[in-house]
Amino acid sequence: MGLTQTIEPIAPAVVFDQVTDQQLARFADLIYDRSGILVPSHKKMLLSNRLRRRLRDTGIANFDDYYRHLKRLKPDDSEWDAFLQEITTHETYLFRDKVQWDWFRGDFLVQCASDAMAGRRQRSLRIWSTACSTGDEPTTVACCIADRIPNFRQWNVRVIGTDIAVGALKQAKCGVFSEQAMRLVDKSYCKRFFTKTDGEQPWRSKPVLREMLLFKQHNLMDPPSERMFDLVLLKNVLIYFDARSKRTVVDNVCSAIRPGGLLLAGATEGISGLIGDFQCIKPWLYRNCTF
Ligand SMILES: C[S@@+](CC[C@H](N)C(=O)[O-])C[C@H]1O[C@@H](n2cnc3c(N)ncnc32)[C@H](O)[C@@H]1O
Repeated sequence: MGLTQTIEPIAPAVVFDQVTDQQLARFADLIYDRSGILVPSHKKMLLSNRLRRRLRDTGIANFDDYYRHLKRLKPDDSEWDAFLQEITTHETYLFRDKVQWDWFRGDFLVQCASDAMAGRRQRSLRIWSTACSTGDEPTTVACCIADRIPNFRQWNVRVIGTDIAVGALKQAKCGVFSEQAMRLVDKSYCKRFFTKTDGEQPWRSKPVLREMLLFKQHNLMDPPSERMFDLVLLKNVLIYFDARSKRTVVDNVCSAIRPGGLLLAGATEGISGLIGDFQCIKPWLYRNCTF
């Protein structure tokens, strides 16, 4: 009796190794030139994993071919968007850094409302959330405005959220959030300003918030397209930048703040030496003193 052995066909496996030191250096230069983000050499594994996803999606065989492909593309090509989405870190959640939101609700907005009542300012508010990722930060801004500015619908309110990563902005525009992202939101705000369904992102902001928000792609290394903001938030992004790119970003962002307007920075941004004519009000808050 003959022995029949069934051999399973082996699916062609594509094995991508880690990037070499030389490949890492080339990608790091490309990323730095395009976004200001620094990729240190110890991030080899992370970069390799993220690049592998682009290889799979594009069907490109190896890191060198993908690098050459990117270099040939125009900066507005959708593969650049997909690449930047992949190599950026999008960790965010609503009401991140409670002390800053307590100030925003309790001091800043209350002052704006009373100044408007007394005729000391227009009923207008322009706020820019830079590097807003999936929109949690500008949505937090909108929640606080809806809560603390009486008759805010009669105000001219514009909250702009920008990011370099188009994928993150796509989610931001939908206004959907996971349980994890909503964990610090007051119960009363959840009820007033959000609806809940099932799924991975069960919370959705109500139109009352979404109507205040506008999302756009913007690279912080480029000059801003809008100016005269009352308040600009620059949080949890500059940790990925070196001193040179930080200076460019801070100059760009500061140029968008109206005289007397404020810059709210993350605790880790490390911008105190770069802030020029701005007066430090709190360790994370600066006023534009140029008039
Ligand atoms: C960790 S998230 C911070 C989100 C939010 N500001 C917060 O504090 O929760 C950092 C964001 O910065 C964005 N980013 C990185 N480099 C950028 C650049 N050059 N221009 C604009 N956004 C950038 C990333 O895409 C990412 O969404």
